[in-house]
Amino acid sequence: SRWLYDARGSRLFEWITRLPEYDLARNEFAILSGHLDAIVAPLAGARCTVVDLGAGDGHKTRVLLEALRARCPAVVYAPLDLSRAALDAAARRARREVPGVEVRPVLSDWGRGLRVLPAEDGAKLVLFLGSSIGNLEHPEALALLHTIRGALRRGDHALVGFDLVKPVEDLRRAYDDAEGVTRAFNLNLLARANRELGANFDLAAWDHVATWDPGRPAMESWLESRCSQEVRIAGRVFAFAPAERIHTEISCKYDEPRIEELRRGAGFDAAGLFLDGGRRFADALWRAGEGAA
Ligand code: AVI
Repeated sequence: SRWLYDARGSRLFEWITRLPEYDLARNEFAILSGHLDAIVAPLAGARCTVVDLGAGDGHKTRVLLEALRARCPAVVYAPLDLSRAALDAAARRARREVPGVEVRPVLSDWGRGLRVLPAEDGAKLVLFLGSSIGNLEHPEALALLHTIRGALRRGDHALVGFDLVKPVEDLRRAYDDAEGVTRAFNLNLLARANRELGANFDLAAWDHVATWDPGRPAMESWLESRCSQEVRIAGRVFAFAPAERIHTEISCKYDEPRIEELRRGAGFDAAGLFLDGGRRFADALWRAGEGAA
């Protein structure tokens, strides 16, 4: 699903976060603003580096950075993103909105970026917000959390956002909104393949489909062929039957036992679990403790 985020895909995703049906970003913002003191308390008084994985959303980062700037002698903000456009936007926004914080953007995927982080003095806080973790299969999620843990020293923290399981109808609407923004976001993958892989997808021949898999549990996004067709991609030809689907994304949903399982599996200590009033989203604050990663 990382290929969804070219410049247009990143813009469409920003738009999704403002849709009435898609409440993840709003719920997480409410959590961060409502529990700010408790979330930043472990870093108060320390020089700190905030590493932001997938620095899509400026509002959330801003409240955290402002709170840290008020409580810490020095704050470095290191957004880490694959998309140059998203990274530049995050860096510009942070420099404009939170002066006094040193901004050091890192253009990289999460795994590599975390491994090359400069060894800083002071405390680290890794932000992995927005339930981006839900776009990873369980073993990949665990591997990334291990990498995060490995990049941290004892006493550093990670703040991880999890979208919680909620009524299926709400989820279906969130992933297939009335305005068709999520549809455009998904189809953009085909436009990108046409542009970057010399593919010849006819976008009008594909539908956006969002389904719920209670077993994972996760919402799943697909592109469904409207007809029998052949598509050339990077010199190879693929045949699609009517209603045949391409699986483009999973968005896992969590409950507290599952969040705890991931925390323990990645080798973190629990430092707090913060929920919004409707109990639809959770931010977990984890501490790198004594144990090995
Ligand atoms: C970025 N990620 C957490 C979003 C999600 O909810 O899985 C991406 C998205 N896909 C469709 N709508 C939003």
